[in-house]
Amino acid sequence: MFRTTLTRRLATLVVGSAVLAAQAHAQPSAVPGWATPLASSADPARGQAIVLKRQEGLCLLCHSGPFPQEPFQGNLAPTLEGVGTRMSAAQLRLRMMDSRQINPESIMPPYFETRGLQRVGAAFAGKTLLNAQQIEDVVAYLQTLK
Ligand code: HEC
Repeated sequence: MFRTTLTRRLATLVVGSAVLAAQAHAQPSAVPGWATPLASSADPARGQAIVLKRQEGLCLLCHSGPFPQEPFQGNLAPTLEGVGTRMSAAQLRLRMMDSRQINPESIMPPYFETRGLQRVGAAFAGKTLLNAQQIEDVVAYLQTLK
């Protein structure tokens, strides 16, 4: 009894790791287009407004960063300070589009994905949280955080 459960658990673990390993390789192509810009231009100033505004990006609910003018900042996620040094535009874009591609358990909202969402209000069904231009504006702004 005990042994069967253990064997089953081990088997699940092995299969699980194999799936994870496969996903690790599949990652780059999982979200089409994350390596290339979604819009032809990008404005870091507009991106900054999205990041700082609570009604739009809501980033500061979880993140903190070099924003001395913002009194309330989150502590559920890594600071955005220096993120432009740590990550390339493509890496930032992928995280913005759907951070579940990197961490399936991520609590960060997938800003450019409509699949796999829960409890979406009727008015928002089929819509992404940010549009392509806004994603690029935010990526451009994050790149300035050196
Ligand atoms: C509900 C919480 C939440 C919100 C809102 C959120 N994030 Fe995140 N974010 C996270 C967490 C947690 C991580 C750490 C990786 C993970 O678990 O996915 C993360 C990771 C990141 C990373 C990678 C940072 C690193 O150093 O690894 C970037 C860049 C980022 N977020 C940008 C943003 C931006 C820009 C916004 C707003 C448009 C935003 N996030 C909104 C929770 C959030």
